[in-house]
Amino acid sequence: MKWMKLFAAAGVLAIGGAACNNDTKEAETTQASAGITKKAWGEANGQPVDLYTLRNANGTVVTITNYGGIVTSFLTKDKNDSIASIVVGFDSIGPYLQSPPYFGALIGRYGNRIGAGKFSIGDKNYTLATNNGVNHLHGGVVGFDKVIWTAAPITDSIPVLQLSYLSKDGEEGYPGNLQVTVTYSLTDEDGLKIQYEATTDQPTPVNLTNHSYFNLTGDTKQTILEHQLQLNADAYTPVDKGLIPTGEIRAVAGTLFDFRNPTAIGSRIDSVEGGYDHNYVINNVTGSLQKVATLSESTSGRFLEVWTTEPGIQFYSGNFLDGKFINHSGTPVQLRTALCLETQHFPDSPNKKEFPSTILEPGKKYRTETIYKTGFIK
Ligand code: GLA
Repeated sequence: MKWMKLFAAAGVLAIGGAACNNDTKEAETTQASAGITKKAWGEANGQPVDLYTLRNANGTVVTITNYGGIVTSFLTKDKNDSIASIVVGFDSIGPYLQSPPYFGALIGRYGNRIGAGKFSIGDKNYTLATNNGVNHLHGGVVGFDKVIWTAAPITDSIPVLQLSYLSKDGEEGYPGNLQVTVTYSLTDEDGLKIQYEATTDQPTPVNLTNHSYFNLTGDTKQTILEHQLQLNADAYTPVDKGLIPTGEIRAVAGTLFDFRNPTAIGSRIDSVEGGYDHNYVINNVTGSLQKVATLSESTSGRFLEVWTTEPGIQFYSGNFLDGKFINHSGTPVQLRTALCLETQHFPDSPNKKEFPSTILEPGKKYRTETIYKTGFIK
């Protein structure tokens, strides 16, 4: 009942289709109550799309569009009470249609790479679309980041947005009709909770994630090299030149990949060819939600904890960012001004029998959960 009232109040405050070129500013300054609002946000793939604003009582705000399920901003307070988006994004749909490198997007059917875009299940061989040299990356040419999801705000005690998509048999070369539901919730503890679910009618690989790029200063004028990162991972999966895991699980001890204790990202990055773009093997995975990573930044006082049920996390230090896209903050997103912590199963698992399986069978439910929990220390 309480929620219904909030929802109604939020509906009244919604901006409708009004042209607004600065949604982050709007979200920052609108005196709105906690809840969820929706507004028209232009067109993609010839269809209208919407922007949903999830707001909690602390003043934390997340905006999400049903185009690609993209988190377009995540506004949090810093230690001086000033508000900024800790994720890279745009205030209008336009730049999202120019194929930015997955900023904030939902990734599927398979997050990360599948070597040569080929795999087999039983005696059946499959060939996927290749879009990263000879390899398949992030679901192919038109991955889940470029489709329109059916959106439903849900009645609950916190703002919740449920997104659904039917990925048809044969899409990008994958077998089976895959029915996917991703549920975004903004918690009272300033966490963006993401629950992924899927079912299929034929065995198929599934590995869903979100590709948000973080910069805890809220300003991509600053690099992420001074951010401190801690990963609960004693090992990682080394890769070949095409960023396909070799199959080895290598201990991080004594290597440039050791983030078991909080370490400045920039401290060793220049010695890592190309920068960090590696899957870490999370310790003691039980399938229950656990804290696997902590990122912090001292000038803002902000921190980000990553909680997940998944066995892996891709730490990508923004090595391919090139300044082509202009962030909310008005600055180009240059090399190493943002980083990703993508929770996942290991890359190329369909071709690596020694890695945990990513094959979803008919009659089984794919279910994973990740929380990006934010906060600041004064
Ligand atoms: C992922 C990959 C990177 C890169 C980015 C997008 O995180 O691991 O190699 O492809 O996506 O640019």
